[in-house]
Amino acid sequence: MNLFNVYPLFNINPVKAQGSFLWDDKGEKYLDFYGGHAVISIGHNHPHYQTQLKEQLEKISFYSNSVENELQTELAEKLGKLSGYEDYNLFLCNSGAEANENALKLASFHNGKSKVLYFSGSFHGRTSAAVSVTDNPKIVAPVNFSERFIKSDWNNIRQLEEIFEIQGNEISSVIIEGIQGVSGIMIPTFEFLSKIKELCEKYDAALILDEVQSGYGRSGYFFAHQEFGIEPDMITTAKGMGNGFPIGGVLIHPKFQASNGLLGTTFGGNHLACAAAIAVLDVMKEEDLMTNAQKMGNYIENEIKDFPHIKSIRRKGLMIGVELDQDCAEVRKSLLYDHHIFTGNSNDKSVLRILPALNISKEETDLFVGALKTVLDKI
Ligand SMILES: Cc1ncc(COP(=O)(O)O)c(C=O)c1O
Repeated sequence: MNLFNVYPLFNINPVKAQGSFLWDDKGEKYLDFYGGHAVISIGHNHPHYQTQLKEQLEKISFYSNSVENELQTELAEKLGKLSGYEDYNLFLCNSGAEANENALKLASFHNGKSKVLYFSGSFHGRTSAAVSVTDNPKIVAPVNFSERFIKSDWNNIRQLEEIFEIQGNEISSVIIEGIQGVSGIMIPTFEFLSKIKELCEKYDAALILDEVQSGYGRSGYFFAHQEFGIEPDMITTAKGMGNGFPIGGVLIHPKFQASNGLLGTTFGGNHLACAAAIAVLDVMKEEDLMTNAQKMGNYIENEIKDFPHIKSIRRKGLMIGVELDQDCAEVRKSLLYDHHIFTGNSNDKSVLRILPALNISKEETDLFVGALKTVLDKI
């Protein structure tokens, strides 16, 4: 059997990883400044993470959600404390798309409405409703398309108001990324988010903050929207939550009523996934990684801002979009093959996406800064 060929692959086969470095099958070393799409939050194979997972593996790795699982309770408590959302409830699942799918569904169960407002440039995952609110026609199949999903322009308050004026009573939820990642690091304005919150309250629509990429400390806040002091009805999370172990979650405002069977999953919140997610929170707290994300993000921006070919830098913490005056593909290729540094791209071809682990050191950062300068100087 062959693999279903949907991923364009780099010709690199990593077999080992530690901290911010990877090694391939030929023993070549790579610096990871992308974390496999923002997944590596506390660094590859962090010793605490390894120990917790190994110990858990020796006890029990899985049983279904039909029995008590005290690791889920511990995870919810620790997540509530570190994120500041102690009075919210947690539903655990396996991925970002699944978290969004459940949030959209729960909003609709709650208010009985069926329309969803989303924004240009959005990416919310590839499952049914999640892909319907993703602004990329190439990945929305006919089965996912419906006029119930309404697109509004990013940071456009007037359009938002017009849509609500006409269809507000039918809108079940508004879904928005804390910071848009896939579209090239687009940051919402305070005015825009405040207006969304105001309209959601006025029309009884649920505000869903997708923090799958921008959450878990990446922006220097636990969730990116917290910079603005706005409280959503639901917050979705995945990626950095398990540092590579698949886990996702929905943080749910207490006004939403749970009932038996309303939501569910076979694998979500299993023992191993919880052990991974608890280890991530322990390390984030112990090593004060949100502060490091702020500090190292500032440092990178200051070091690179005057490099040639950089038009602008869009950034919060270690969620960094470097806009070049040209397509970034060759720069990215040269960073990878000439300097052994992983970076990311985005839907905006000129934007290089930089998403290193939150415990990246100054020395590791200097390797990236030096390599980027060499590559850009040569163009
Ligand atoms: C903002 C956002 N939401 C949702 C998703 C989907 O997450 P997953 O791939 O875990 O389903 C992603 C993935 O890139 C994302 O960036």
